[in-house]
Amino acid sequence: MRKIRRREFLGLAAVGAASLVLTSCASGGTATDPDRPWQPLGPLRIPDELRADGGVFRLTVQQGTSEILPGTRTPTWGVNGPFLGPTLRMRTGDAVRMAVTNDLPEVTTMHWHGMHLLAKMDGGPHQPIEPGTTWEPSWTVRNTAATLWYHPHTHGATAQQVFKGVAGMIIVDDDAADAVGLPHEYGVDDIPCILQDRTVEDDGEMPFDTEPNFGQMGTEILVNGTMGAYLEVARTTVRFRFLNGSNARVYHLGFADDRELTLVATDQGLVPEPVRLTRFALGPGERAEVVAELEPGERVRLTTTAGEGRVDQGTFPVLELRVADDAARGAAVPAELPGAAPLDAPADATVRTFKLQGHDEINGRGADITRVDEVVPAGAREVWEVTNTVYAHNFHVHGCAFTLLDRNGAPGEAWETGQKDTVHLPEKSTVRLAVQFGPGTDPTSPYMYHCHILRHEDDGMMGQFVVVEPGTEDSTPRVLEAMGHMSH
Ligand code: C2O
Ligand code: CU
Ligand code: CU
Repeated sequence: MRKIRRREFLGLAAVGAASLVLTSCASGGTATDPDRPWQPLGPLRIPDELRADGGVFRLTVQQGTSEILPGTRTPTWGVNGPFLGPTLRMRTGDAVRMAVTNDLPEVTTMHWHGMHLLAKMDGGPHQPIEPGTTWEPSWTVRNTAATLWYHPHTHGATAQQVFKGVAGMIIVDDDAADAVGLPHEYGVDDIPCILQDRTVEDDGEMPFDTEPNFGQMGTEILVNGTMGAYLEVARTTVRFRFLNGSNARVYHLGFADDRELTLVATDQGLVPEPVRLTRFALGPGERAEVVAELEPGERVRLTTTAGEGRVDQGTFPVLELRVADDAARGAAVPAELPGAAPLDAPADATVRTFKLQGHDEINGRGADITRVDEVVPAGAREVWEVTNTVYAHNFHVHGCAFTLLDRNGAPGEAWETGQKDTVHLPEKSTVRLAVQFGPGTDPTSPYMYHCHILRHEDDGMMGQFVVVEPGTEDSTPRVLEAMGHMSH
C-alpha cells in the first residue's frame, strides 16, 4: 500500500503540475500523482435531487461500497446511498422536517451548514443520533436562495465521517432568484460540484490518515465522488455551484485558459452585483456559484492552481467540460442580482476577539461542549475579529451570516463579497467580520464556531455560543448541564 504524507504530497503536487502532459497510463485519473496523471475517466455524477415528501426529508446515513477508481471497490459511507447524499431542494418559507436515521455502527449527527435555525435543530455535537435511531429536527426556511450543505458534526469524529462520504448539498430557492434568469436546470446548466480530495490506492482502499499533520489531503480531486470527471453540456452558459467539502484542501479555481467567469453567489446566497474574475479560492466549508461562458464544440478544463498565501500547491485539472457542437446559447448574467447587501458594522457594535492558536485552541482553550464561551443577544450585529497566529485556518460560525470587513486591514478578495458563513485565514492574518445573528433564543443549546479544517475542529479548535433574550446575557449560565446523553 502506498501512503502519501502531506510533505510528500506537496512535493508531488509540484511535480504533478510539470507532468500534466497526458500519457496513456491506464491506471486511473490522478490529479497530483505523477504515476497516475489526470485523465477523464467518467461522466460527472450528479447527485439525485430530494424534495420533501409531505414536508419530510427522509435521510438514512449508511455504509456501502463505491467504485471510485475504475475497476476497484472502496468502502464508503453515504446518505440514501453508498457515497455522499442527495441534493436537498427547499424554498424560502417552507416548513421542513428532517427524519435522519443512523444506520452506521457508531453515533453521528447531521448539521445543516449555513442554515438559519434554532441551535437545537442545528445538528451539532449536542444532537447525537445513536445507531439505529432517527432524529427529527424541523424549521421554517429563513435563508434566501443559496447553496448550503449538510454533514456530520460528531464530537471528535467529524473528519472521519465526512471523509468516508457523509455530506451533501442543499439548494434553497426563492421567487426573486427564480425570476432573474440565471441558469437553473439542475444537472443540465446548473451543476452541483462537491469538491473533495482523496488518496485512493491501486486496490481502491481510501485510508483515513490518523497521523498528526496539518489535515488530510489527497492526491485525487473527486467531484461529487467522481474521479477524473468530465461533463457533457448542451448549453453555452452554465452555472456551477461549488462546495468545498474537503477535509483540509483550499482550491483556487478557474479555467485552464484563464477565461473570465461571473461570480453570482457566495456562501449565503446571491451577491447584489456579479463579479467578473478569472480565479477564486474556496477553503473547506465555503461555497461559490459562478456562471461560465462556453463555446460550442470546445473542450476545456476547470483547474485548481496554487494561490497567494494558500495551502494548496501546483496546478491540476478538476473537471473537463465537453460542449456540444450545437450547444444552445444561454442568456447573459444580469448586471444586478437580488442578493442581500453586504453587512456593515455599526460604530457601537460589540467587538469579540478570537485567537486561533496551533491547530487545537481558540483564545487559549480547547473545545469543551459543556462550556459556553460567548453569550450573544438575539438579533445582534457584532464585529468578530479573528486572529490566526500560525498556519492557515478556515473559520466558520453557525447560526449567522457575516460579511468580511477586512483582512489585515485591507479589503477581502473579489470573491469574498456578499454574505458568508466561512472565511479563510492565511497564516498569521487577522480578519474582521460583521456578523448578523438570528432572532431565535435558547440559553441552553449552543451554536458552534470553529476551524473547518476538520482535523482542527476535532482536535479542539472550536468554541460555543448561545443566543439569548437581550438583557439576559449576564444571568445566562456558562456551564451546560445534562450532557449525560453525549456519547463522546
Ligand atoms: Cu460545516 Cu460546524 O460546520
Ligand atoms: Cu456549520
Ligand atoms: Cu484550522
